[in-house]
Amino acid sequence: MSTPQTNGHPKGKFTPALRLDTINGAVPNVQYAVRGELALRADKYLHKLHDHPKDHGLPFDRVVTANIGNPQQAGLDQKPITFWRQVISLLEYPDLLDKHLEVAKQIYPVDAIERAKKLHAEIGSVGAYSQSKGVVTIRRRVAKFIEERDGYPSDPEHIFLTAGASGGVASILGVALHPGDGCLIPIPQYPLYTATLAYLSATPLPYYLSEENNWSMSHDTILESVSKARQEGVPVKSLVIINPGNPTGACLDRKAMEAVIQLCYEEEILLLADEVYQANIFYPEQKPFVSFKKVLMGMPEEIAKSVELVSFHSISKGMSGECGRRGGYFECVNILPEVMDQIYKMASVSLCPPLTGQIGVDLLVSPPKPGDPSFSQWEEETQSILANLKSRSAYMSDKFNSLPGMSCVPADGAMYLMPKIEIPTKAIEEAKTRGKEPDVMYALDLLDATGICAVAGSGFGQVPGTYHIRVTALCPGVEEYCGKIETFHKEFMEKWA
Ligand SMILES: Cc1ncc(COP(=O)(O)O)c(C=O)c1O
Repeated sequence: MSTPQTNGHPKGKFTPALRLDTINGAVPNVQYAVRGELALRADKYLHKLHDHPKDHGLPFDRVVTANIGNPQQAGLDQKPITFWRQVISLLEYPDLLDKHLEVAKQIYPVDAIERAKKLHAEIGSVGAYSQSKGVVTIRRRVAKFIEERDGYPSDPEHIFLTAGASGGVASILGVALHPGDGCLIPIPQYPLYTATLAYLSATPLPYYLSEENNWSMSHDTILESVSKARQEGVPVKSLVIINPGNPTGACLDRKAMEAVIQLCYEEEILLLADEVYQANIFYPEQKPFVSFKKVLMGMPEEIAKSVELVSFHSISKGMSGECGRRGGYFECVNILPEVMDQIYKMASVSLCPPLTGQIGVDLLVSPPKPGDPSFSQWEEETQSILANLKSRSAYMSDKFNSLPGMSCVPADGAMYLMPKIEIPTKAIEEAKTRGKEPDVMYALDLLDATGICAVAGSGFGQVPGTYHIRVTALCPGVEEYCGKIETFHKEFMEKWA
């Protein structure tokens, strides 16, 4: 009998197949600051506090996770919306809709039971795969939500449910871009975009948002970036806009949106609208959210029927904050049918988005209505989450603006603030000797001194020579938390003056 052939390792030394020099060369280029060095150090502190509550040796007793928009995480503790969890729990244990219905009736409001029964009839077990685009009845309700929001028709067949907005963004960029293709991204941006582009070996084409003008977007700046890319031979394929912005919190006005759509029309660029913060709006009278779909549909017919738009939404943000459930959707507008088929095929490769995420999307787009038994509780819970976010955000920007060497554009919405820090020259030199970006050093020192985990502005991108940190407006106890930042900041500025 012959011996089976193997690669063999004649010198008796096994060489792993996966090494940094053999894995996909794009992977080491992927960076994701929100969960980078700062978050890892914060995790280490969390464990230390947990394992040695009495003698941890740290100058703080609590780590404040201000680095990520994850409202329900431990420490931030945003309570889930009751109606959501009622419906979801019934679907997880459907005997409560049948064999144990009488028990359920003692605990659950009638409309939660009715909704769960309806979803159960449509979906069956949440343990089964659904259609790859997501359950059709849920997609129909998403289409209705979009129609009511915008006043224009929406086709459920052009809607894909996804594992969070991230899943949708990755799959659309994956379909749209060849290696080397250019994608315009705002700076500062949410690092999902640079990370995904790095993974696809595509080329990020930054366009800077103007901090002086409330982080607004300028048509001319985008155009400059397009011309520069064209001169360098980079094909410009798509443009990402985050509205309301992360990390900036800025909400775009209609005129700026029209200008961008016009540019996409003239330059034949796919428009990707990340609208995951559409419900986190603080001043709806002065700065309302308007969707790109609505603005596009209101433009001259030639443009409205041509510009290719994909818009993204999520259950992770808004008032639900169901980040771990992984639910979201995207809607495609003006995408050629043959390309839609390819998007569908790629969605089928991962079979289907998580069913509990899809149910979350259903709850997002069709919440209890006035007159329903759960309406008042739902309204009270969602309004209080929004009111807290808004008041914390305003408190924080006021506080930051009162500190020497710090300024902060107040947010119109979303969950973040991005204060600018005038880092003293001596601190910049010190950062160089430590091999860090100056704002990374600032954020690490802040963490070491206070337990507050922020993200350095360089993780999102910023105008060279300017320095920022990004913090969420999700942390309870905002006065104490800002007080700690104040003390740290003043000491930092004095130390390096
Ligand atoms: C602008 C933006 N887009 C997308 C996402 C991803 O959200 P999801 O949890 O739906 O994947 C985030 C998360 O923070 C975000 O801020």
